Amino acid sequence: MSRIYFFDTTLRDGEQSPGVSLNIKEKLEIARQLTKLGVDIIEAGFPVASPGDFEAVKTIAQNIKGVTIAGLCRTSFADIDRAWEALKYADQPRLHTFIATSDIHLKHKLCKTRPEVLEAAVAAVKHAKGYTSDIEFSAEDAFRSDLDYLCQVLEAVIEAGATTVNVPDTVGYGTPNELGKFIADIRERVPNIHKARISVHCHNDLGLAVANTLAAIANGAEQVECTINGIGERAGNAALEELIMALYTRKSEYGKEAGINTVEIYRTSKLVSSLTGMPIQPNKAVVGKNAFVHESGIHQDGVLKERTTYEIMNPELIGLSVNNIVLGKHSGRHAFRDRLKELGYALSDEELGKAFVRFKNLADRKKEISDQDLEAIVEEEIRRIPEAYHMEYMHISSGTTVVPTATVGLRLEETGELIEEAACGDGPVDAIYKAIDKLTGAGGTLVNYALNAITGGKDALGEVTVKIQGEDKRVVTGRGVSTDVLEASARAYVNAVNKLVYERASGH
Ligand code: KIV
Ligand code: ZN
Repeated sequence: MSRIYFFDTTLRDGEQSPGVSLNIKEKLEIARQLTKLGVDIIEAGFPVASPGDFEAVKTIAQNIKGVTIAGLCRTSFADIDRAWEALKYADQPRLHTFIATSDIHLKHKLCKTRPEVLEAAVAAVKHAKGYTSDIEFSAEDAFRSDLDYLCQVLEAVIEAGATTVNVPDTVGYGTPNELGKFIADIRERVPNIHKARISVHCHNDLGLAVANTLAAIANGAEQVECTINGIGERAGNAALEELIMALYTRKSEYGKEAGINTVEIYRTSKLVSSLTGMPIQPNKAVVGKNAFVHESGIHQDGVLKERTTYEIMNPELIGLSVNNIVLGKHSGRHAFRDRLKELGYALSDEELGKAFVRFKNLADRKKEISDQDLEAIVEEEIRRIPEAYHMEYMHISSGTTVVPTATVGLRLEETGELIEEAACGDGPVDAIYKAIDKLTGAGGTLVNYALNAITGGKDALGEVTVKIQGEDKRVVTGRGVSTDVLEASARAYVNAVNKLVYERASGH
């Protein structure tokens, strides 16, 4: 059975999602999780794009081993040199160079002729080859390019040393039949195609990215470029979790192997959603909240009699625990630690201690603590960046006939001093945020606020995700959880302010 290589571009194309900005620590954490998930290649960023992108690629190249690390660059030598500066620390570095090949892009964007683009592509591959043998060439907007010309370019770059040739449907225009035929034609017409691996990179503008990628696989593509939760430029990229579960569930149809460790899918999806602040729609295939929920009585009856009546995938396969109600008020540290271990968390003693305090506080307010609750509080604790401000307390006065007022106490981590402020607002959340603004002078603008219940029931944990934009236009995501949604709102905002402070201080 032949093998499909998974090229994950969550940290590059995924980060191009509108409103998403990850700091280095967050990128490194996602890269670690992608390694556990078993992707073959991690595209860590576009080093020339910004100093932050450069540092992120370099840090990932230095710290993440046992997987290929790719860095994107245009065909200019300066781009390639800069990408190599960051990538050279990787065990298995890959230079990924690209230039558009469609006439639309040539005429309106690049202002170059076809021979000029061909020449630039070949020169870039030869230059990159001076650094490493693993070279990927992408023909941007390949699907809308003239097939004869595209085949000429691919033949020339393979001759120059490209080991992977990527065929992007950059604007998500293709249909499955067309994509399948396109790949089959390339295989037939490019004489030296056997010397390189064919890759596809499908965007989701028409909701066809996964279907198009699968059609390409059926016609000989061996590498798929995708992102977790399908995030990416505009409507996003092909969703990794959907591709792998299609290949797994329909092995008889596709007959392909892959190195993905499917039980890490759920955790990876949650991590990416939480760090990017991009919620997962409930009906999202594979990882949506409703993906394994049976609402109709007939369906529930069927599943109780035999799971496969209405379930084509076992939720445990993607790492979704079915052991839901686990701990409560009387559970001790030991049971807590054991359950976390089963959920895949290896915490240090210090992290465990902090998480246990949060767990006990939660257990006072909530009778039954599910795995999702545990994950939410543990992730909040272990993902804490160094805090400039620690939330000590908040008091709210609100109602239908009073002006909402909040008093917030923050502790300055540097001096240990407790600082307090009060503010009025249009609502209690507004009042809290105004009080925090007065205390921190962070000067951020709230650009997004989302509240989500982690589990069902009146005592559910509320998860608040906020995005704030600093004066330097940097957008950060903050997250807070609590059974009290106002407390979760305050925690999320303080978390975002701490990130702004941290990123400014570390220069990323
Ligand atoms: O969509 C696209 O064409 C890309 C390339 C840079 C691979 O992201
Ligand atoms: Zn793309």
